[in-house]
Amino acid sequence: MTVLVPTMGALHKGHQALIRRARTLDKNVVVSIFVNPLQFENKVDLEKYPRNAQRDIELATLAGATEVWLPDYEEIFPDEIKKISAGPLGLVFEGHSRPDHFDGVVTVVNRLFEIVKPKAAVFGEKDFQQLTIIKSMKSQVEIVSSPTVREFDGLALSSRNVRLSAKGRISANIIHRALVAAHLAPSVEVAQEVISSTLASESSFTLDYAAIINEENFEIANNETPNRRAIIAGWIEGVRLIDNMKMGQGR
Ligand code: PAJ
Repeated sequence: MTVLVPTMGALHKGHQALIRRARTLDKNVVVSIFVNPLQFENKVDLEKYPRNAQRDIELATLAGATEVWLPDYEEIFPDEIKKISAGPLGLVFEGHSRPDHFDGVVTVVNRLFEIVKPKAAVFGEKDFQQLTIIKSMKSQVEIVSSPTVREFDGLALSSRNVRLSAKGRISANIIHRALVAAHLAPSVEVAQEVISSTLASESSFTLDYAAIINEENFEIANNETPNRRAIIAGWIEGVRLIDNMKMGQGR
């Protein structure tokens, strides 16, 4: 049996943590590296996506991958693409800002599962909406989540972080600061206010959305919602950054 860790390459310590988690589930760990054109609504973003196969193979192997699989486009999509819908969760927040993105994710993940036939697959909490949508896919594969790996100042690791200038990189921890400031707030209203005012204090940050949602369905949470999570997305220097944190619990 195999555990799959799907990635788009440009591996970092966040991906390596997923691979190590996979190794606790099985000794056979396949890491797939496929920059999926279906999930990029922006052609420039797709072209700019960092590619370094040699380094990725090294980092994946060091973390315990037994196979690094770099399929080409024809292997994943040999004939006409059977598009799969991510459903209503694919249309809100990240899906609202990035139309068709989650349909592209679900379509490729389904193909990866068809080809590799893993017993389990590991995904990061960093992309919480993606994780939730993948958990809702009809599939035999067990979906395992792994916590967000952060830089020393709380910024969530992302292959996009290298596109920030030194100044932008310092400002970028505003998202984590907002999440930490809010996580023990006594009510949803206070948490929302703390997040909004913290984010507004960083002039280089352009907000896309900041909300406190019900983890099960991504509806806006109220004070009776048991599993609340804050989700934030925005841009610094044109680089899109997203993060999230369970409320009432911290990191
Ligand atoms: P990619 O962005 O390469 O991410 C691969 C996996 O690593 C995802 O499950 C993501 O949530 C996780 N990840 C990224 N940064 C992380 C961090 N700082 N801490 C913990 N986990 C982190 O997500 C994708 O690729 C694609 O959409 C994919 C699922 C491969 C489908 O194409």
